[in-house]
Amino acid sequence: MNAIVKPQVPHVRPMRVEDLPEVLAIEVRAYEFPWTDGVFRDCFKAGYSLWVLESAVGILGYGVLSAAAQEAHVLNLCVAPEYQGQGHGRRLINRLVDLARWHQVERVFLEVRPSNHAAIALYHRSGFCEIGNRPNYYPARNGRREDAVVMARLLGLSVRQTQDWPAARAPPRRLRSLRASSSPRTAALNNCCG
Ligand SMILES: CC(C)(COP(=O)(O)OP(=O)(O)OC[C@H]1O[C@@H](n2cnc3c(N)ncnc32)[C@H](O)[C@@H]1OP(=O)(O)O)[C@@H](O)C(=O)NCCC(=O)NCCS
Repeated sequence: MNAIVKPQVPHVRPMRVEDLPEVLAIEVRAYEFPWTDGVFRDCFKAGYSLWVLESAVGILGYGVLSAAAQEAHVLNLCVAPEYQGQGHGRRLINRLVDLARWHQVERVFLEVRPSNHAAIALYHRSGFCEIGNRPNYYPARNGRREDAVVMARLLGLSVRQTQDWPAARAPPRRLRSLRASSSPRTAALNNCCG
């Protein structure tokens, strides 16, 4: 028998393809414009890091990070609506930042809707700062588009490898950087992030 025992205390572990039905059930409740099953599968195929926060009741939230060429990118961070406001989002973003350090990147980027005040507050409290915006980045109601706020955090030069990340597992192969550095952005980043 190969039963999977769910942890009593919330615990972060790698997402498995078998988790996708549970993850998608959260995704469609948490977002007005949710990722599809295919988007998550593409992230697995691309070698991105997908993690879930799980407890005895099941998956509480999850995060997706890509890392390549000195940069990491938070592609998704989500806590099930009924478990929001209990520190799980903070725990997940901290773990993604920790994972980015393990990948030895210098900067972590993310995009967020300007209307998403909870997420922006979380990212500010986690050391991210706003460095620009991307016009018409997100789909919005009535066929419109919404800008994205671009946020970033510099990780500094000291690289630490935590006990939590498997030492034997090499960082994934270098992936195409999702974000090419632009000088205004780099200047903004150097000015405000620590
Ligand atoms: C954004 C999200 C991940 C936050 O997760 P969470 O578990 O609710 O957040 P936490 O309980 O860890 O809160 C951490 C910090 O976030 C901020 N925050 C969280 N919810 C907030 C809210 N409703 N309003 C304002 N700030 C909020 C606070 O600064 C909080 O710190 P504090 O309690 O010390 O003040 C969660 O709301 C979510 O999954 N939303 C839907 C998906 C989403 O929008 N993801 C972000 C995409 S960019």
